[in-house]
Amino acid sequence: MKHSLLVFAALLSACSPFESQAMEKPLDGQVLVIAHRGASGERPEHTLGSYKLAIEQGADYIEPDLVLTKDGVLVARHENEISETTDVADKAKFADRKTTKTIDGQKMTGWFTEDFTLAELKTLRAKERLPQLRKANMAYDGQFEVPTFDEILALAKAESAATGRTIGVYPETKHPSYFTAIGLPHEGPLLAMLTKYGHVDKSAPVFIQSFEVENLRVLRGKTKLRLIQLMDEKGSPADQSDLTYPAMATAEGLKTVATYADGIGPNKALVIPRTLMGNLGEPTTLVADAHSLGLAVHPWTFRRENYFLPLAQKSGIDPRGIGDVKAEMKAFLATGIDGIFSDNVAEAVAAKSQ
Ligand code: G3P
Ligand code: CA
Repeated sequence: MKHSLLVFAALLSACSPFESQAMEKPLDGQVLVIAHRGASGERPEHTLGSYKLAIEQGADYIEPDLVLTKDGVLVARHENEISETTDVADKAKFADRKTTKTIDGQKMTGWFTEDFTLAELKTLRAKERLPQLRKANMAYDGQFEVPTFDEILALAKAESAATGRTIGVYPETKHPSYFTAIGLPHEGPLLAMLTKYGHVDKSAPVFIQSFEVENLRVLRGKTKLRLIQLMDEKGSPADQSDLTYPAMATAEGLKTVATYADGIGPNKALVIPRTLMGNLGEPTTLVADAHSLGLAVHPWTFRRENYFLPLAQKSGIDPRGIGDVKAEMKAFLATGIDGIFSDNVAEAVAAKSQ
């Protein structure tokens, strides 16, 4: 997602009270803190440094978005186009790899993971995606490699042993139908790597997530690991022409999701929409509808900067200012959700404990 800075409304209003709604929780009944791209509010996203900090701060799960290299290796990047989050554009030796492609219907110009071997990709270094909002994170630019999924699973295993906690992994298949079309499907390497670490069934600390549908259906036929259907506030999955996310999020639509998935990962606006003034509005029935089908609900993404917060949780008018994301999280926790994706793990752990 690209973010441009906007002018903020200066008026702050009081936070609305939210009723606690008792819900039967599916899965194991815990509320999970899922470190979105690691502790990406404080380190460049999708780096071992970001994941390590997230674990130190108490994350239950670390979240890698996964794309593939030319030689079929899964690596953690939010997009297969890597100029926003690495120094690839500064490397003269890769200047001729710059190209234009159409990904999920969008024309994009840049450098793409599928045009690099893993060895080539490993010569790059990660950089902060949002330097305008997260200037302090730029101190870590150039320090971290693009990690492989193997390295992330190894980190989770090592940190589980070191901390005595179970550190789960929550991989997302990015652009799965695109990668399948170019002969690099996610499913084989994804399941092989998870199996290497002993993750083979619903008891494993693993959720596999996707915004698309068909790859989840394919995975359902191949694995007993838990699957999460992601849903945006609007639009359609890239691999569906007739199905929209709003339709998928209805009580009827969720029945179909429940035939292949164990939970949903909705845009948080599908759980509590914002009012016209930009405050949190009334919760929808999505959590109750999903729970009635045994589906867990893990909304995204909670971020502490004013730029992302509801009006009442902002602190001042500087988009970079740090507002009260814990208050936003607590309003969502009161709806009965089962987990939260956050760039700010420490705040999520604190909100959960309160
Ligand atoms: O996977 C949940 C959330 O991460 C979805 O949004 O764009 O950050 O992958 P995105
Ligand atoms: Ca993701």
